[in-house]
Amino acid sequence: MIKLENVTKIFPGSDIPAVDNLSLDIKEGEVCVLVGPSGCGKTTTMKMINRIYDPTEGRIILGDKDIMDTNIIQLRLNIGYVIQEIGLFPHLSIEDNVATVPRELKWPKEKVKQRVDELLTLVGLEPEIYGKRRPSHLSGGQRQRVGVARAMAADPPVMLMDEPFGAVDPITRNRLQNEFLRLQEQLKKTIVFVTHDIDEAIKMGDKIAAMQEGRLIQYSDPDELLSTPKNEFVANLVGRNRSIKRLHLMHTRDVLNNDVAYVKLKTPLEEIEQKVKDSKLRAVMVLGDDNKLMGIISKEDIKREKGEVAADYYQEILNTCTDDATLNDALSVMLSYGEGFIAVTDGQERFKGIITVGDIFGVVKDDANDN
Ligand SMILES: Nc1ncnc2c1ncn2[C@@H]1O[C@H](COP(=O)(O)OP(=O)(O)OP(=O)(O)O)[C@@H](O)[C@H]1O
Ligand SMILES: [Mg+2]
Repeated sequence: MIKLENVTKIFPGSDIPAVDNLSLDIKEGEVCVLVGPSGCGKTTTMKMINRIYDPTEGRIILGDKDIMDTNIIQLRLNIGYVIQEIGLFPHLSIEDNVATVPRELKWPKEKVKQRVDELLTLVGLEPEIYGKRRPSHLSGGQRQRVGVARAMAADPPVMLMDEPFGAVDPITRNRLQNEFLRLQEQLKKTIVFVTHDIDEAIKMGDKIAAMQEGRLIQYSDPDELLSTPKNEFVANLVGRNRSIKRLHLMHTRDVLNNDVAYVKLKTPLEEIEQKVKDSKLRAVMVLGDDNKLMGIISKEDIKREKGEVAADYYQEILNTCTDDATLNDALSVMLSYGEGFIAVTDGQERFKGIITVGDIFGVVKDDANDN
């Protein structure tokens, strides 16, 4: 969707390139994160894509067209841009900020209003409450959300986002990141996303471009960046605890252990007792129709309760997660319930298997030696 071919930018009066022979291929619907230290050329790269700067050498293809052959206004209308430091118009209301591009496109008034309301709601800002305010009457995190809404206003297929969540506290940032990922799941835009926070890069990116002094050092998916950094610069960039960071990327379905004892609701006590005794967990899962996870029976439950079949004994199980959760999520749930394992289900609550703390340590240990 976006292709940079040997792009170099040398600013007038400088003899070192701000961007040096950069080639990048960004596929449609992908989030490409540019990451690297301050001054390495991230913003400059972005600004060449919407022609705020023209490359000194090389070319940039958008769709199948060289951007130099595209009408510059047309080009920018197709590219949403969230600039570093937010950059809302201070004298305009929030509504008017978001409406900028649709009005330039001469959308009818009613359609603009509808779109603005829709977008403010989408980014979690009640239009009734925030629409008429000025940017200075919003918090930093709220302003950043308006910036994102404004960039999305005309539904551009391509978005450039320059440190869109840079100015907010870690908790709000985490929430904005999650909202963004949820939106992107539906909208599937092609996004160039700049950050100098490697954890953000790993979380948000389908691909990560690690840059140093204008040059592309490594271009790979997050897991590869963590497991096989190309050189010392990238290894330092991803930092210590690489293996722990991988827990954010790997999913429970990747390490699932499905060799787990289970019984059905009507399984008689004798058989339950035998299975509990043989089980490493000292417990069995109880499954209903269609393998739906109903609960768990442990040794203690058998002693405490009275009955004949599993339905009389089982207890609710809280330490569960779905098979698309990350290992980090799974570990958090285990820690918060003080359990050594977690039961994994699919989207329809069907039992898929379990993961133990030991399984997670196994993943971390595998590449701990590389740190
Ligand atoms: N308009 C300009 N004129 C001259 N030099 C510039 C201009 N814009 C950027 N530069 C230089 O180009 C280099 C790359 O800057 P750029 O803004 O792309 O860095 P960045 O990676 O976005 O950094 P940061 O993380 O601090 O935002 C820097 O050395 C910077 O000083
Ligand atoms: Mg920058």
